Amino acid sequence: MIAEPQPTAGAVFSAQEFSAWMQQCLERTESALSRWVGVGAPAGLGEAMRYAVLDGGKRLRPLLVWAAAEAVGGLPAAAIRAGCAVELIHAYSLVHDDMPCMDNDVLRRGKPTVHVQFGEASALLAGDALQALAFELLVPENDGTAEEIPAALQARLCRLLGAAAGSQGMAGGQAIDLASVGKQLTEDQLREMHRLKTGALLLGSVRMGAACNPQVDPAAWEALTAYGQALGVAFQVVDDILDVVADSATLGKTAGKDAANDKPTYVSLLGLERARAHAEELCAQAHAALAGSGLADTRALAALADMVVRRTH
Ligand code: IPE
Ligand code: IPE
Ligand code: MG
Ligand code: MG
Ligand code: MG
Repeated sequence: MIAEPQPTAGAVFSAQEFSAWMQQCLERTESALSRWVGVGAPAGLGEAMRYAVLDGGKRLRPLLVWAAAEAVGGLPAAAIRAGCAVELIHAYSLVHDDMPCMDNDVLRRGKPTVHVQFGEASALLAGDALQALAFELLVPENDGTAEEIPAALQARLCRLLGAAAGSQGMAGGQAIDLASVGKQLTEDQLREMHRLKTGALLLGSVRMGAACNPQVDPAAWEALTAYGQALGVAFQVVDDILDVVADSATLGKTAGKDAANDKPTYVSLLGLERARAHAEELCAQAHAALAGSGLADTRALAALADMVVRRTH
């Protein structure tokens, strides 16, 4: 188990502490992804998979998994696999999201998109293979060569990831997104779309982290769920805002795409100022959930909520 957190309820990270915490988690994540992704895949598939995953991305989802796992004293070997698994689902969702049949984007993480670089068939297959690998990573053989993860925990992590990625989660949200092109949605409909297409995987990250301690207190689980729900929607509200206010070089993806593709967004519905205020409101909800969680140390989770809302890319 990760060492039991010291009682520091209400404490906050300094910028330096947060940066050191992130650095450690990012190094661990990058090295695990590089070890696991696309190795030995035939006919150029591995190259496309590694291109999609490595050298880019904020890695917010693995950071959330790790922060939640630390907050509950979860099993580190499970947390690292869960963080990588959710990042692989995210990377696959981006590869497919960028394809001509979806958002038709040519730039991602500052590089040509996977289908531009490798062709559409390879992009489709790279996405498929990343999705499969995500689940494979969650069920390692308990053969004494890796740190053991109890079978029940492996199964639970698979269930949480499947629910977050599937028809009641990311894929369902993407279906709503595509069906909503050119339509004016109500605020409730828009929230539902964002909750599924983006929020579900972020909530799933927090829950997978929390699940790394199978004995997690039910009240803490509920509080972390409320935190993940608020942060998940806030993230996509900010993505909508950045699409309007940031430039492509900063974003590493094409700015102004939502208006060009006639997508309903928080900015098109509420305008910039109200969209910004809504993101702040959701951030405050996330903090309130942490404050009521009964967990001793939620500094990383709190700092990640602020990062989601204050980010510039
Ligand atoms: C972009 O996600 C896609 C959305 C869900 C809005 P991120 O902004 O987390 O993308 P990377 O991983 O940092 O590239
Ligand atoms: C994508 O939302 C959400 C996914 C599930 C990939 P967007 O289409 O707004 O993401 P970006 O702006 O292309 O990163
Ligand atoms: Mg999209
Ligand atoms: Mg897109
Ligand atoms: Mg977007």
